Amino acid sequence: MTVKGRGLDPRFMQELKFKNNIIEVIGSYVSLDRKGNTHWACCPFHHEKTASFAVNESEQFYHCFGCGVSGDVVKFVQEIESTDFMGSIRILAGRAKMQVPEANFDTEKAREDRKKRDEMAKIMLDSAKFYLANLYSGDARADAHLRYISNRQLSPTTVKKFGLGASLDFFSLPDYLAGKGYSRQNLIDSGVLTEGKNGRLVDSQGGRLIFPIINALDEVVAFGGRLLEKSDFAKYKNTKETMLFNKSKTLYNINLLKKLKREQSINEVIVVEGYMDTISLYQAGFKNVVASMGTSLTKDQARLVKRYTENVLISYDGDFAGQKADLRGLEILKSENLTVKVVPMPDGLDPDDVVKQGADVYQKCLDSAMPLIDYKLHSLERKYDISKTEDKRKFVAAALKVVRTEKSESVREELLKKLREKTGITYHALERDLLSLPKEESKPQVSVSEIREASAGASVADKAIRFVLAAKLFSLHYAKDFSLETLEFTNDVHKIVAEYLTEKQKSGERVRPSELFEFLDEDCAEFNEILDLNYGEKLEGEVGERYFNDSVKMLEKLSIDRKIEVLNAAFKAEDDLEKRKQITKELSELLLRKKKLK
Ligand code: UTP
Ligand code: MN
Repeated sequence: MTVKGRGLDPRFMQELKFKNNIIEVIGSYVSLDRKGNTHWACCPFHHEKTASFAVNESEQFYHCFGCGVSGDVVKFVQEIESTDFMGSIRILAGRAKMQVPEANFDTEKAREDRKKRDEMAKIMLDSAKFYLANLYSGDARADAHLRYISNRQLSPTTVKKFGLGASLDFFSLPDYLAGKGYSRQNLIDSGVLTEGKNGRLVDSQGGRLIFPIINALDEVVAFGGRLLEKSDFAKYKNTKETMLFNKSKTLYNINLLKKLKREQSINEVIVVEGYMDTISLYQAGFKNVVASMGTSLTKDQARLVKRYTENVLISYDGDFAGQKADLRGLEILKSENLTVKVVPMPDGLDPDDVVKQGADVYQKCLDSAMPLIDYKLHSLERKYDISKTEDKRKFVAAALKVVRTEKSESVREELLKKLREKTGITYHALERDLLSLPKEESKPQVSVSEIREASAGASVADKAIRFVLAAKLFSLHYAKDFSLETLEFTNDVHKIVAEYLTEKQKSGERVRPSELFEFLDEDCAEFNEILDLNYGEKLEGEVGERYFNDSVKMLEKLSIDRKIEVLNAAFKAEDDLEKRKQITKELSELLLRKKKLK
């Protein structure tokens, strides 16, 4: 949690927000339906049929009841354009025809970082163009690349669409880039060039077929490079992680997915592992595809997907269900409330292989996509020949272990019924066997609780703090005179909100919840919890007032308890009689205050 945006000139921010009315900005992305002071839409950040995304005009912020996101106009653009805070500022400034005050930007370091990032983006784009030009340059060394492309049945249109290119050797790219005035350090830091022996710069992708990796803002951020022939070297080599490229936050083809979303609604996204899977599926008409680039899915990638759909079809090759890393990725998708199905694939084939047999063949696979747990059972079924008694016994034992990992009783029941049909064993017997499985078998292979831990139920104290902050934030009359300075905050978000409120209370200025988004980082989950309290009239009326007073009392008591504990420890550690006396005096004052609270 870091504080951001403070470095920007507040007058600039004010004007920027004034000129970018949140209703107009959001209205240019989704259609808004006005009801009173609130405008409603279907949430652009999660898929839904009834509108639960509310934009508040007078307060200039949005909040979704469905998925809990909220923010101001800057945050909205940041999310919808997949950019960072400064990226959003630039877009909004452009929209309002305002000059971004470069000179006033936060720190020297941030200014340098931005400059570096911009130059690296240019280096990436230049290199991508260079590789692309190589491919059709007529240079004999590109023949191998062209042959490879044609062997893999990629059409010229597809090659262009994905911007594929060719590295012909190790030195022509460095030579080309040298003439462009880039700094040597940036050439290295962008990952495009590597320092070779005796300090000479070489093309990191020397000789490979180039797959540019492009982000949602259409910036080339990295390259995947494939060897044309089998060798001991890694088949694919990706650009190292850089300021532009964070593999765990990127999905291959997200740029075209974003374009697709502008043209049509996206019901589901197919997630594959590889570059070639993506390109082949796209070429065959399955344009709603992205690749995780061979690694297990991360939370950031799950969130990225969620901007486009809530239904994910996992289309990995062969039998991946036994691989823990991949299963974990799927659990992460589920924990982001995405509906996940697995596309069964013939053994040993990947989506690229299957779609080459015909788009209809792959479509059949998609049609038989199934929930993960069914997929696991399906894989087991293929492993055993249940017409043989011995195999059938093993199959049932293995299947029951899988069933045992299902949390929902009704789904477990459903699965047992399916097993009954498959094996002819009675439901009763299966159920008995299931229950008699040793305890340790009941642990799911991947612990969902591990993933959910972070968002697990807040403590009573946290809930009370949220309520007190929300009541002050939304100017409830009963909270007006209470000073937050009597409380202690350990959570950074609470601290920032409390500081803001205290400042406003002292200066008598109006509290505007939306102003806080400028101080809070991406990770605003805790702030969303606070904002949520403003809905459904939780803060209102006598009940709200009573809860507020109870919360304040409890928090004050907690804070006194903490102080007493500290003083007790200090007392024990102190030898000096005078100081001990002083501590005793403070202690008795605290105990008195505590008594009064009751
Ligand atoms: P695969 O080996 O399944 O790749 O790895 P693929 O796309 O089917 O490769 P082709 O069909 O042989 O060309 C899946 C993905 O894992 C990453 C790449 O992103 C690849 O597309 N990968 C794989 C690497 O980064 N490095 C490697 O050495 C191999
Ligand atoms: Mn492949």
